[in-house]
Amino acid sequence: MPTRILIVGAGGREHALAWKLSAEPGVNEVFVTPGSDGIAALPRVRRLADVPPVDGPSVVAAARAIAAELVVIGPETSLAAGVADALTAAGTAVFGPSVAAARIESSKAYCHEIAAAAGVSMARAGAFQQRGPGRAFARELHEGGARVVVKADGLAAGKGVRVCDDLDEALDAVDAAVADGPIVVEERLEGPEASLIALTDGRDVLALPLARDHKRLADGDTGPNTGGMGAISPLPDLPDESIADLLARFHRPILAELARRCSPFRGALYAGLIVTDRGPVLLECNARFGDPETQAILPRLATPLGPLLLAAAKGRLAAAARSLDCVGDRLLTIPGASVAMVLASAGYPEAPRTGDPITGLDAAEATGALIFHAGTARDPDSGPARDLDAGPGAYRTAGGRVLTVVGRGVDLDDARSQASAAADLISFPGVQRRHDIGRPPLAVSAVLAGGRAGTRG
Ligand code: AMP
Ligand code: GLY
Repeated sequence: MPTRILIVGAGGREHALAWKLSAEPGVNEVFVTPGSDGIAALPRVRRLADVPPVDGPSVVAAARAIAAELVVIGPETSLAAGVADALTAAGTAVFGPSVAAARIESSKAYCHEIAAAAGVSMARAGAFQQRGPGRAFARELHEGGARVVVKADGLAAGKGVRVCDDLDEALDAVDAAVADGPIVVEERLEGPEASLIALTDGRDVLALPLARDHKRLADGDTGPNTGGMGAISPLPDLPDESIADLLARFHRPILAELARRCSPFRGALYAGLIVTDRGPVLLECNARFGDPETQAILPRLATPLGPLLLAAAKGRLAAAARSLDCVGDRLLTIPGASVAMVLASAGYPEAPRTGDPITGLDAAEATGALIFHAGTARDPDSGPARDLDAGPGAYRTAGGRVLTVVGRGVDLDDARSQASAAADLISFPGVQRRHDIGRPPLAVSAVLAGGRAGTRG
């Protein structure tokens, strides 16, 4: 049981982790670096604002200074920068993979290579550094009757993917993406998506409940791809009972292949799946907890998370899972559902505007919904003269995804109503939000058609 935990990161996912871990029995204090004012408002949570989250030696020094028994790494940028390696070398327990293992996320071409070696099903794809061969492969897919997806090979905060409708768009996407670096060109698959995140010590796995992200900016899965505009858990069309089968198809073979290559993976292995006519297929792996999936998932857990993260970090996950009575390969959940809605700033994802005053946070929280901060900051100069509604110390927008509002309920509809009612109370100029998260597909069509369902949030 870790009593002092350091979380690396500053977003909604890290706020949800701090909320969950700081409330667990035996945890005395949670620190978050760099954290945010919103995260630091939690009881027993402090921020270390001056520690850069991508600088291994600084994070090691911070972990030592606060005598952290466990460091939990949130963002992929910290993993790719070697923060977990630095902590491991310093003898600090860290939940998060090495640079070598995190390459499963930081290079989409490497993810395809591992999946192929492990016999895991992914979309047909090619990796390219030059425009000509990339275009030729897009044409080949098109001539074979497939549509095309073009991806930046490296990390792009969820925004490096163009899902194309026709060949011209695909060729344009190849030209645009290859100008910035290596790319992957893929066959476009159709079907509902699912995120399955498993805690692992490199050998054993323990899955969080299934969730679904909503990557497109606008209702009905339209508009550009984003980092994620909302999440639901559980899924109406893929029960948590399918988890054992999914772990056997995806997580276990990938972990075995990474171990075989001497880069065992310790941390959260996230499989982004699409359920096609020919069964579930892997779209991507992430080397960390998803955002906003984590905000929807953590409120559903019936067990403490800290002991499991520490056990995974120390290579003893199976024993810890047994001691918490986890049955099979899954964490225990409480009955019910969660719906997480992201409120994004004006201009997101292309050019997020910052500095807009946010109002209604207290009223939204009073509804019982959970409010997790991502791109917010307290305005040091704010005062009644500048921000009559919000008053001194008011929050302003400070990033693309600003807040995640999470509703909980007996089912998805109930959870959606709570999230929606709370989100309705929060406002800032230019706020962008989806209104179909957690709605059944029929109701989504009504939203798109501008029907009554669309006006109720
Ligand atoms: P990724 O970062 O690779 O998961 O891609 C982000 C999002 O783009 C996914 O969640 C899907 O919505 C979409 N996407 C990626 N690859 C494909 C594909 N091969 N077919 C259809 N949609 C895709
Ligand atoms: N929700 C997708 C991600 O975390 O990358």
